[in-house]
Amino acid sequence: ELRASIIGIGAAAPERRVPNSELEKVVDTSDEWISQRTGISCRHLIAPDQGLADLASKAAKEALEHAGVDPLEVGLVIMATSSPDDLFGDAAFVARSVGATNAVAFDLTAACSGFLFGINTASQFLHNGAYKTAIVIGADALSRWVDWTDRNTCVLFGDGAGAVVLQQTAAGQPAGILGYEMHSNGAGRSDLNLGYNGESKDLGTTIPATVTKGAYTPIAMNGKEVYKFATTCVPEVLKEALDNAGLTADDVDWLLLHQANIRIMETVAKKLGIPMEKVITNLAEYGNTSAGSIPLALNEAVKAGKVKPGDVIACAGFGAGLSWGSAIIRW
Ligand code: ACO
Repeated sequence: ELRASIIGIGAAAPERRVPNSELEKVVDTSDEWISQRTGISCRHLIAPDQGLADLASKAAKEALEHAGVDPLEVGLVIMATSSPDDLFGDAAFVARSVGATNAVAFDLTAACSGFLFGINTASQFLHNGAYKTAIVIGADALSRWVDWTDRNTCVLFGDGAGAVVLQQTAAGQPAGILGYEMHSNGAGRSDLNLGYNGESKDLGTTIPATVTKGAYTPIAMNGKEVYKFATTCVPEVLKEALDNAGLTADDVDWLLLHQANIRIMETVAKKLGIPMEKVITNLAEYGNTSAGSIPLALNEAVKAGKVKPGDVIACAGFGAGLSWGSAIIRW
């Protein structure tokens, strides 16, 4: 039995709110197309001078306050992101800015599965006793990496961050994370990527070529393949985690998927026999915020009093890699 529980949650989204109608001015699209095909009405976009690490810090601070935990007690900080301000990692900066100065901090990259891979990773350290308290943040600013002339992708993404505080489950308490499962498959790499494209310069020395300038090409996605992958693999990975927890879909109070597309959520819910009333979604307001999406939606549902203590939440993330994973959480 895993001995890790989520004891606090927080989230932060950029103030700048961009409705579909504004995108109609940028690419050949319509509010109708975007909302019908995806369920997205709006997204929040980070300002050019705004840091993702600042947004992540805001979410982590709120999670610490919600948990009532002293930042000095935190032993581990994991920031799941694919779009850090600093490619060497943002987690240490975030740990310091929330006052978690006793913690070791590192980034974890698993695209839209990042938050779930993050909590499943942190849980191992809590389970084996290495640390008692951890913060896991999911944060992304994919608006920095989309091609704003490509209507196939630019309408989908938004920016945001969410964070949870995890703690070793107290003796006698039921475990918070009841089961989990994770998978990846590099064969699907070309279906969704953000690749490096370096420029080399011949230095005329024994070093044949040195990269002098590098850039990442914007996000490229085969939407139909990602859609097929998600609707096939996500129900399976949820069943696996439920099985590990000794539960079935009937025990699920809330289904919370990575917020990519409402049609993916409908298909997955249907395959599991879970009614849409039990599906948590805030995709309409925030779009696909990648690693931020699950904690951003969970924070809203918890603070609105929808998710109550004791509820069973089945979570699944999926995305580039390809990668996909799940966790069954007792709130
Ligand atoms: N506005 C208007 N028309 C558009 C737009 C747009 N924004 N984008 C595409 N179109 C057009 C296409 O060009 C195409 O036109 P064509 O038939 O003349 O070529 C037409 O709309 C239909 O396109 P389809 O690809 O058939 O649309 P589909 O119903 O498959 O929906 C979508 C596309 C929304 C991308 C869907 O495939 C999807 O959601 N896939 C999963 C994507 C996803 O979840 N990605 C993220 C997960 S991983 C992560 O989060 C990083």
